[in-house]
Amino acid sequence: MSKPYETIRVEREDRIAWIVLNRPHRLNALNDVMMEELLDALTTIDNDPGVRCVIITGEGDRAFSAGADITAFPKATPVMAEELSRKGQKVFSKIEELSKPVIAAINGYALGGGLELALACDFRIASEHAELGSPEINLGIIPGWGGTQKLVRIIGLRNAKRLVMLGERLKAEEALQLGLVDKVVPFEKLREEAKSLAQKLCNGPPIGLKYAKYALNFGSQVPLEVGLRLEAALMALLFSTNDVKRGIEAFMSKSKPEFKGD
Ligand code: COA
Repeated sequence: MSKPYETIRVEREDRIAWIVLNRPHRLNALNDVMMEELLDALTTIDNDPGVRCVIITGEGDRAFSAGADITAFPKATPVMAEELSRKGQKVFSKIEELSKPVIAAINGYALGGGLELALACDFRIASEHAELGSPEINLGIIPGWGGTQKLVRIIGLRNAKRLVMLGERLKAEEALQLGLVDKVVPFEKLREEAKSLAQKLCNGPPIGLKYAKYALNFGSQVPLEVGLRLEAALMALLFSTNDVKRGIEAFMSKSKPEFKGD
């Protein structure tokens, strides 16, 4: 868990794993090394049954992440750009496919790839001073880590065009109104608020949450009938777990269930 990474920090707090993007001098811009380290940390966390929830945030109070590291762009060939895009998509897919809930605690700018990273998470809590946007168009490019597709699904085509085609930046409050983030809190409360949500998720049934995430994420991309079949199959699988027995017994005896993840 506590590998000495160069561009991120992984901290363990009880059943929560914090991943802190740690290049504050570059507003936590995502470079190659950071992408590789993120993938490595996420894989380790996924395989650790002691971790029930993940929180991703940025070091400092200026940025969650200001996006892909633009300093790598001048030398990039089309082949390198395709590799960069695929690498980012792989890391962000890992977040979406992670067997545990992931929360983005957006502590400042979430721009370009930084916003796309937050979009891959299951929940987004933003600090009051955070700003969110997809400014890639100002460089002549478009979001390449899922932004064009996911923004439409979350805030609709009209609002997605404001961000992607006009490069508009949204303040946290407006992002909240559009449903781009779930909650906005003062910066000093961000850590506590993310932790409180994480604790709620930690108390849930791990296998139930894993299947809920899978059914929701996968189901939103396939025809309804396929999603419904998957839902039924996952529901059936859950009836093989001890946590379902614990949940039902606790309901019957009017007590709180203690889910163990088996
Ligand atoms: N990649 C590489 N470096 C970045 C970066 C990025 N995406 N975003 C910011 N930085 C660097 C800046 O170059 C600057 O470095 P320097 O001190 O060596 O000059 C440092 O981080 C601080 O940023 P700065 O621009 O001075 O801060 P600011 O408060 O004036 O502006 C932003 C903040 C976020 C508005 C501005 O940095 C910006 O527009 N960043 C790029 C966002 C973007 O286009 N992201 C999509 C990339 S595809």
